[in-house]
Amino acid sequence: MRSLPPVSRRNFLVTSGAGAAGLCVAGSAGGYSAAEMRGFTADDKLIGISKWEIDTPALCVDIDKLSQNIATMKTKLAEMKVASRPHAKTHKCPTIAKMQLAGGSIGICTAKLSEAEVFSTHGIESILMTTSNVSPNKIRRAMQLRLTNPKFIQAVDFPPNARDLNDAAREAGVVADVVIDVAVGTRSGIPADDRALELAQLVDKLPHLKLRGVISYDGGAQHIKGFKNRLEQTLNHFAPSVAIYERMKRAGLNTEIFSGGGTGTYNILPKAPGITDLQVGSYIFMDCQYLEIGCESNEEVFTDFTPSLTVVSTVLNTYFPNSITTDAGAKALTLNKPGPWVVGEKSFAYNAGSDEFGVIKYETAGRSYKVGDKLELIVPHCDPVVNEYDQMYAIRGDRVEAVWPIAARGRSQ
Ligand SMILES: Cc1ncc(COP(=O)(O)O)c(C=O)c1O
Repeated sequence: MRSLPPVSRRNFLVTSGAGAAGLCVAGSAGGYSAAEMRGFTADDKLIGISKWEIDTPALCVDIDKLSQNIATMKTKLAEMKVASRPHAKTHKCPTIAKMQLAGGSIGICTAKLSEAEVFSTHGIESILMTTSNVSPNKIRRAMQLRLTNPKFIQAVDFPPNARDLNDAAREAGVVADVVIDVAVGTRSGIPADDRALELAQLVDKLPHLKLRGVISYDGGAQHIKGFKNRLEQTLNHFAPSVAIYERMKRAGLNTEIFSGGGTGTYNILPKAPGITDLQVGSYIFMDCQYLEIGCESNEEVFTDFTPSLTVVSTVLNTYFPNSITTDAGAKALTLNKPGPWVVGEKSFAYNAGSDEFGVIKYETAGRSYKVGDKLELIVPHCDPVVNEYDQMYAIRGDRVEAVWPIAARGRSQ
């Protein structure tokens, strides 16, 4: 990996303009040929047209940058001797999940049962659902999924839920694989104390459950600004999870999985003893929230991975001084902060607060804009933006090479 000079946000936006030459290394799309890529295409008419000609707002993914991000993660994690089990809630797209698996990932994660069902239907077997299923119908559905997909693994963080899962697994005639979700913070998971060990012992004893290990995810750590801060806080917060993992191991329980981490801590969590794999999600696309936190080699911008996901938008109105209106508002970009970054413009302030319109305020522009012109936007937060679209346009150079259905989009149940 070549080392990159420090980049400020302002310079980054200009150098990452058309082609993002400064940060991208061209590569093949995870081993797929152009013909194979077309196999995933939902709309043949669009193949070969320029991305600037697609009706907007259009969600675009640059295939070379996406592939490079997958390859970079593979190389970095191999150096640290851990695997990746990427979180598919980021892309919700079976084509990308298959690229990740072809790029060495050992499986995928999902947040929702309906996502897991979609990915399983698309032939992806190794799925770890990181959220617990607690209602009777979801527990039954999860066990039905386990029946058709023997590689489905389910998180559990509550003893009565483990017993319910065991009963449903018995009814379905399966022995279901389970990981204990150990909390870091207060969002989800069982507290990292005796209760976690007792839950693991309970799962181990229940005849229709098979204990596979531990997951432990620190949502609060991923976006801590400044690498040193992030490193210190992540490892401190994570120490109780490591202690539980070690106690489970000493008690003779199965700890073959010890999974956690995300894009912000991808090169930190492997320093925690025992970690087997990382649940990295956003690294494939990157977004403004991640770009802003900095990385080990650059305090200002997280440059380890290249933004591959953009929304192309059309200028609708330029009547008003120092103001541009576009067709990409909250429904195209969400209300997440910071606002989208406009590629090629150093100082545009983009407000996506209106449902259907984006409003840009600026003092100076890198070029003049007229109605019908196109703008390319780096999205505030990739996961919820992807969830707004039925498909993404897979772009190579500036041409549409394929249209990838976002098959699990809207699958929240
Ligand atoms: C359980 C879990 N694992 C992993 C991730 C990692 O995602 P990212 O790499 O996008 O930060 C998330 C994101 O919210 C998550 O909820």
